[in-house]
Amino acid sequence: MCGIVGYIGNEQAAPILLEGLSKLEYRGYDSAGVAVCDGNSVAIEKAVGKLLNLSDKISGGDALKGTKGIGHTRWATHGKPTKANAHPHFSERFIIVHNGIIENEEALRHHYLKDTEFLSDTDTEVIAHLLQKFTDSGETTPVAIQHIISELEGSYALAIIDKNEPDLLYAVKNKSPLLIGHGDDFNMIGSDAMAMISKTSQFYEINDKEYAILSCKGVEIYTGYGQKIERDTYKAELDVSDTEKGTYPHYMLKEIEEQPAVIRRILKEYSKNTGELEIDTKIIEDIRACDKIYIVACGTSYHAGIVGKQLIEHIANVPTEACIASEFVYNMPLLSKKPMFIFISQSGETADCRAVLVKVKEMGFKTLTITNVNGSTLSREADHTLLLYAGPEIAVASTKAYTAQIAVLALLASQIKNTININLNYELSKVSNVIEALCTDRDKYSLLARDYLTGARNCFYIGRALDYYVCLEASLKLKEISYIQTEGFAAGELKHGTIALIENNTPVISIISQENINLNTRSNIKEVKSRGAHVLTISTKSLSSQKDNIIVNDVHEMLTPLVMVVPAQYLAYYAALQKGCDIDKPRNLAKSVTVE
Ligand code: AGP
Repeated sequence: MCGIVGYIGNEQAAPILLEGLSKLEYRGYDSAGVAVCDGNSVAIEKAVGKLLNLSDKISGGDALKGTKGIGHTRWATHGKPTKANAHPHFSERFIIVHNGIIENEEALRHHYLKDTEFLSDTDTEVIAHLLQKFTDSGETTPVAIQHIISELEGSYALAIIDKNEPDLLYAVKNKSPLLIGHGDDFNMIGSDAMAMISKTSQFYEINDKEYAILSCKGVEIYTGYGQKIERDTYKAELDVSDTEKGTYPHYMLKEIEEQPAVIRRILKEYSKNTGELEIDTKIIEDIRACDKIYIVACGTSYHAGIVGKQLIEHIANVPTEACIASEFVYNMPLLSKKPMFIFISQSGETADCRAVLVKVKEMGFKTLTITNVNGSTLSREADHTLLLYAGPEIAVASTKAYTAQIAVLALLASQIKNTININLNYELSKVSNVIEALCTDRDKYSLLARDYLTGARNCFYIGRALDYYVCLEASLKLKEISYIQTEGFAAGELKHGTIALIENNTPVISIISQENINLNTRSNIKEVKSRGAHVLTISTKSLSSQKDNIIVNDVHEMLTPLVMVVPAQYLAYYAALQKGCDIDKPRNLAKSVTVE
């Protein structure tokens, strides 16, 4: 979703802003803009579409002179993706960029800004005019910021230029992600560390309803009531090269092929000197003390969560429920007496998850976040964190985070109580090798995608038990990047309705890795074949039959999702490639979904 960058220092700001925005492109956007300040004059440029359009317009930044500026990539929420709605927005004195949604913007317009003429359809412009209104009435800028913090309802990360303060830049945060980057003679604002990592690895956290005042030399952080806060910087463990594509044509392909290394890294990070796996005992104690685990997540992370439920129930024997965050928050089931909540989120910023986290914390329940981003909102606000160690995931379509989430959940389950005596060190090492072998078959997946998917209007994934859960993830992958309408079905449910959709040549991809239901799924394959389906089968070696299209080496039966998903990720990738889709940045989607 929207990305924010700000810079105040001694270098030309525009190229730094463009570079920062390019690192936030992965979040998804439909327009971009910058404001650069040269003394008291501020130049604003915006462009619809790719960041390149903006960059071309300002000659890579050379056309805008000045050492202070703010930049934005916009993912439309209020109003269409037009130049008028692109950020920055401004009033006479204030220029701002915003990530989030102001829920009471109508009421604020009505109460304070009846006579104001607006140039855009955005809620952001309301904030610029409110600041103007409050300072016109005699408030200083910090007081006006405190005033807007008390008035605004909803989520906002803001970077603000006050034309009357050429040596300062302001940042404000509530619910939307925002970090302050700190350098020797410059300071920065960014939606995440990646936007600033080429300039600095030192960051200040800024919490909800706090604001910061940045100059070249320093950063001051205040509560929403104007009390100064003393806070130290922290160092982000991020390597700039982790955010590069290298020789890969797309981040998604790179990230698919990083999966064996990610599994090995997880084993290393969670190993003691003795080589034994371990998880913080405080986490294990809290989980052992609960009577039920609720896993809360969205999208791909939810799909990892349903596999996690199976793993925790099967390995550790603890009742577990997996819930979709956006449903759970407003439609909470009857909870057990002593629940514990596990949030799974690659980004650690997903607003739907955060809404649940805030609620269950208020209810006094223990919380754990499993995330890829250390220091992210969900990580900071939960009682405990387990990291995925997957390295930055840039492609919107999540791949390596899914496998990392399942691997960490398996590890967690086995540490709670290993009732089935699974040797996870050995089994996950094996998984890593099997994925590595799968990654050598690119040509095969490309041909299969061409034969089964590229010209298809729709597609079905079918499987049972854990295979069904992989089908849900596989279908999300295919639909989100190739735009082929795809659904994942429990194979046994087909006959209760969905089989009516099978026509001549409808692609049906079946997944078979579970011994106890192998024959049942085979029967379902026969049923769809006899109605004309074009069936592609992915099976494990021990359950394979001669005509299966992709045969995957065996791994522990509880860990099959980790390997069965990989061919599906490739099929989605090649179908999208052959259809000429924008693989890493599919239409309408954002990597980090920071609005509910
Ligand atoms: C999947 O490919 C998507 N990117 C999406 O479903 C994603 O998993 C979801 O938005 C949750 O994101 P999170 O893991 O960062 O919370």
